[in-house]
Amino acid sequence: MRSTRIFTALIAGIFLLHCGSQPEAGVPDKPTFADHIAPIVFKNCSPCHRDSGAAPFPLTTYEQVKKKAKTIAKVTAKRYMPPWPADPAYSHFVGEKYLTNAEIATIARWAEQGCAPGQNGENLSWKAPAWRSNIGKPDMVLPLQAVELLPNLRDRFFLVKIPGLLTRDTWVRAIEFVAGAPNLVHHFNGHILMYEPDAKKNHAKPPFNVEITSGEYDSDFSKLDLLNDNGSKPFRLHSAVNYLPGVQATSYPNGIGTFRLSKMFTVVGNDLHYGPGNRKTTDRSYINLFFTDKPPTRETRELMLGTNGVSPIVPPLQIEPNTRSRHSTRFQVDADISLLTVNPHLHLLGKSIKGYAVKPNGDTVKLISIPKWDFRWQYFYTFKKPVHLPAGTWIVSEAEFDNTTANPNNPNRPPKRVGERLEYGGASMRAGDEMFQFILTYMLYQKGDEEMSLEAEER
Ligand code: HEC
Repeated sequence: MRSTRIFTALIAGIFLLHCGSQPEAGVPDKPTFADHIAPIVFKNCSPCHRDSGAAPFPLTTYEQVKKKAKTIAKVTAKRYMPPWPADPAYSHFVGEKYLTNAEIATIARWAEQGCAPGQNGENLSWKAPAWRSNIGKPDMVLPLQAVELLPNLRDRFFLVKIPGLLTRDTWVRAIEFVAGAPNLVHHFNGHILMYEPDAKKNHAKPPFNVEITSGEYDSDFSKLDLLNDNGSKPFRLHSAVNYLPGVQATSYPNGIGTFRLSKMFTVVGNDLHYGPGNRKTTDRSYINLFFTDKPPTRETRELMLGTNGVSPIVPPLQIEPNTRSRHSTRFQVDADISLLTVNPHLHLLGKSIKGYAVKPNGDTVKLISIPKWDFRWQYFYTFKKPVHLPAGTWIVSEAEFDNTTANPNNPNRPPKRVGERLEYGGASMRAGDEMFQFILTYMLYQKGDEEMSLEAEER
């Protein structure tokens, strides 16, 4: 009797254990492209691996995936691809590109078994939309002036001006920067200047870009003729459109983040940064605008901790050669807020970064953890639902840096003292200087926010 009970308990235990890992267990015996592989690849790989995408080769048809099957099995097993630096055991985000163990095992089995196409699998292909966007069909496309890039080994920075003219003031639900040469465009920070009627006769006069060298960051854009005709400054919507490697533009549902765009406006890039390249090429980047008839329901704002932000870095970000160091920055919010996105930003010496919030009642809310910082993949991570933080909450971010030769990304051999360079009146954007920013988008809290899904309909 007794032994039966133990036996039953054992079986139940095994059963429970088994159930616990059930979602990982679903690896089909004979996976096919049509039924199993295409859905994984088209969702997690093709958005970058497509013609003129961010990745070096397309994975959009059976033939292309089959040809690379062994490598794909390898890079997914190592979790090198798809790049998703945020730890999914810590927090989850919209559009997470993260394969389950079962998906990885399915790919491996499919490759081992010789890449069965499945019914009609040879004909399956992922169609990138004719317009290049992660959101949908843009209502307006504004090209940047093309930039000729010669082979060179240094970073290049430009201030750019992209004027736009509409027939009337218009609601914008999303705005997106599309890199023309995604392997060279390192980042773009864009603000929108809006002109009152009659404030400026001609806002579309050249020059449309100027190359900048050190000492000219955060200038008042005097080189680009951006001020009102009477010398005053037009209204500036700060940080309206940003691009970093891997960033996909965000479009929130329910009118969140919609803003009014004046009839006469200019997108100002301060700055557009190209990394070193070894080929001659022409970059034709552009801006997509998405309009809506619906006025905004909620205003979104940005909060930046760390370098150039609202809170100091402790200890200050100066990293001695041949040392590893830890730094943190914290900020107390004075109103109830709902967080929408988080964007951690470090440069090449970054090793890890974490962000969490401590509520007045002592509860900790996990925001994001990137245990292995990778400079190449810096997303604006959107929470699945707004994260409510009551007034008095502390937002904390902690980062680790490695300024030794053990860090393969250390640009200095031998290592030298590196840190924020604030002497230009702004932080240096050069990858060789270090930065530590923890950037959040939020709105003022309203009851029910925590139940709202942030998955955009068009995604
Ligand atoms: C966010 C964009 C992005 C996504 C999503 C992505 N890749 Fe990549 N992939 C890249 C880039 C960029 C490179 C080239 C740079 C590199 O190797 O890191 C690359 C390289 C590769 C390579 C070559 C690696 C090597 O060692 O030469 C393979 C294979 C690959 N990806 C497969 C995949 C697969 C399979 C998926 C989906 C499961 C995927 N990628 C998802 C951007 C992406």
